[in-house]
Amino acid sequence: RAMALVKEFEEKCATPEAKLKQVADAMTVEMHAGLASEGGSKLKMLITFVDHLPTGDEDGVFYALDLGGTNFRVLQLQLGGRGGVVNQKFTEVSIPPALMRGTSDELFDYIAEKLANFAAEEEQMFHQPPGKQRELGFTFSFPVMQTSINSGTLIRWTKGFAIHDAVGQDVVAELTKALKRRGVEMRVAALVNDTIGTLAGGRYTNKDVYLGVILGTGTNAAYVERAQAIPKWHGSLPKSGEMVINMEWGNFRSSHLPITEYDHALDVGSVNPGEQIFEKLTSGMYLGEVLRRVLLRMAAEASFFGVEVPPKLKVPFVLSTPDMSAMHQDTSSDLREVDNKLKTVLEISNTSLKTRRVVVELCNIVATRGARLAAAGILGILKKMGRDTPQEGDGKTAIAVDGGLYEHYTEYRKCLENTLGQLLGDKTASSIVFEHSRDGSGIGAALLAASNSL
Ligand code: BG6
Ligand code: GLC
Repeated sequence: RAMALVKEFEEKCATPEAKLKQVADAMTVEMHAGLASEGGSKLKMLITFVDHLPTGDEDGVFYALDLGGTNFRVLQLQLGGRGGVVNQKFTEVSIPPALMRGTSDELFDYIAEKLANFAAEEEQMFHQPPGKQRELGFTFSFPVMQTSINSGTLIRWTKGFAIHDAVGQDVVAELTKALKRRGVEMRVAALVNDTIGTLAGGRYTNKDVYLGVILGTGTNAAYVERAQAIPKWHGSLPKSGEMVINMEWGNFRSSHLPITEYDHALDVGSVNPGEQIFEKLTSGMYLGEVLRRVLLRMAAEASFFGVEVPPKLKVPFVLSTPDMSAMHQDTSSDLREVDNKLKTVLEISNTSLKTRRVVVELCNIVATRGARLAAAGILGILKKMGRDTPQEGDGKTAIAVDGGLYEHYTEYRKCLENTLGQLLGDKTASSIVFEHSRDGSGIGAALLAASNSL
């Protein structure tokens, strides 16, 4: 019975090339629809007001505040024009879970406090001349309807955040108020999504970067669009003729997506049912949870771990994606790491090697589906950009990627990159470059603050 459940799950998760191509095409179609009109698609295709990316000439000292999924980071960057980044300091703080469900003031006060402390310490250390207005790039990694490069209202939360009174508020105004309450003078010069920060940070060092992708707690992508190809944009045409689009692809949905009953149950029980369906199949917040749900059913219906259902296995989100990744990538002959994780995380001991092998197989099914779908998503964007075929003059397309999933889950990353290569075919694949842009989004935000400074 256990093996029948595995087989059934594997079949439902299957992502043969033909299916991936359908997913990619659906992504392209939705991109067009989202650009055509507000609300025209599940893909929000948000206009970012970023119409020029860093050139490398940026100069001066800038701050960045990077509120991602699990951590937030404060950065101070000293840019030396053509000399590049002269100095860089940062501090990283994990976001207390209680703050993810509290009030807007609580969250922003907390962030403002950390930023204020950091700025005070750095400035003391570097004897910075007082008086000059400090400017900040704010990476806020949630869907925002921007009204300018440095203002925008929160459309809704994702990734488990649920701070109701912040929805509909201008997040820059909220941050600025919190900074004022602490007596900190700082101007937010640019409000950016993490995908935009990653794209901008990537472009700073590589002019071939046209896409920014985040594969972490959540997932999303941004790319450089022709301003004329955005029917819903009624503003004046930017000089560059370009506009960066924050796709919010986590909310993509299509009948071609391989969705199982486990995914459905996960979605129904989540804080945002019906939303972020693509994200729930591909990103770090959810992969481990999908696996837990499969294991739980196998325990309950096929006594996979013995007659009793291990109580820990019933706890939602107890099995994290880093734990899953560690099990998946266990290379020891007796699968010691799988044994260790089952014991320490799920309190399941005395498993047979055969059982542990099945667990690894399940990790593989869940991760492979996610990585292959992410590759299909990227293919959809490349198609929209006309970069899914070899470019004139040997032009390259670089994709700047960041996020814990991409950084730490090697099997996932390899599968994603290989799959995109297969989908594109050798000739085009050789012109596509993946770049891990570590902390790129904070740096990118500081760079965009620089180019939008007063
Ligand atoms: C970080 C970026 O490296 O990755 C953040 O600086 C981004 O901007 C984050 O939000 C996403 O990764 P994770 O794994 O923390 O969600
Ligand atoms: C979620 C957010 C999105 C962000 C992504 C990656 O999908 O909605 O804005 O870019 O996570 O952090």
